[in-house]
Amino acid sequence: MIESAAYDGQTLVEEFVRSHFIADNPLVTEAVRRMMAAGGKRIRPQLTLLAAEVVGAQPAEHLELAAYMELIHVATLIHDDVVDRADTRRGVNATAVDYGNRISVLAGDYLFAWIFRNVTARYPAPIPHILSATLAEICAGEVLQLRALGDVALTLTDYLEIVGKKTASLFAASAECGAIVGGASAEQRTALRDFGRDYGIAFQMKDDLLDMTADAERLGKPAGNDLRERKVTIPLIFALQRADRGFRDSVERFFTRGDDAQLERIVEGVTACAALQATRDRIEHYARRASRSLSGMRDGAAHRSLIEMAASLVEEI
Ligand code: IPE
Ligand code: IPE
Ligand code: MG
Ligand code: MG
Repeated sequence: MIESAAYDGQTLVEEFVRSHFIADNPLVTEAVRRMMAAGGKRIRPQLTLLAAEVVGAQPAEHLELAAYMELIHVATLIHDDVVDRADTRRGVNATAVDYGNRISVLAGDYLFAWIFRNVTARYPAPIPHILSATLAEICAGEVLQLRALGDVALTLTDYLEIVGKKTASLFAASAECGAIVGGASAEQRTALRDFGRDYGIAFQMKDDLLDMTADAERLGKPAGNDLRERKVTIPLIFALQRADRGFRDSVERFFTRGDDAQLERIVEGVTACAALQATRDRIEHYARRASRSLSGMRDGAAHRSLIEMAASLVEEI
């Protein structure tokens, strides 16, 4: 249970989006609001508010910035589901299923433009620069991931580069920008950015682990989807390093032919060679390192909430 004042902020962030995001085109407004209404954990805005609070600011004064963090995330999800050809998001149809790819691409673009129009008008340097650099990194990470589809030779280093760009960069920026508007010192800003980055890496590793182990109900999106999409994620990388030639051949066959009957066999293969445990160990490593980044900071409700956020990454995995 998050006890800090930033917790109530989640509802206020949603309220901000409901009352402020109105696109020229009603279809775009509806597509974006529908994504917000479908749910989502709101972790990035929470990180922004907690980062502001932990350096001594009032989180309620930074709801707008927190809302932009969530909206950047929403726009990347709308595009990500087009790129990944995913049908389900947040337990409902992905935007492209209901509106088609063409409207989804344009709705995501509109949302990015709307966010950056506001951010550049309202926030001084370096916030707009950090956010645009982050978006460039996310796109670069998504492109790297696309290029790596079906590549059974992908290394842990390659994977970390992809994950660092496509996911951790936004967590790092959410924490860093919260710290900046909250009046952080240079050390506090770096500590919070490092926290966000390591948290984000562990977060994506957990998402990738659960894709292999959890059911669709828990995920709000279909399980086994990464394998179907030919994504080589951390549990599979560890399995390919540890398993025999036969396993590698069956993964390659699955990536070439896409036979769904093989999917369960591959998941079994990953489980059998302790790759899941190795993945859990990496998640724990990054979650601990995230917490350690904050060790020089003053204890208090926001500090405890951040530490709890990192600790919760190693629960139920
Ligand atoms: C989904 O992020 C994309 C990943 C980085 C795995 P979240 O798991 O935070 O998605 P929502 O916002 O809760 O839907
Ligand atoms: C999410 O990557 C990262 C971004 C949204 C840029 P994934 O493709 O792994 O996320 P899910 O599995 O679709 O949520
Ligand atoms: Mg995806
Ligand atoms: Mg995923």
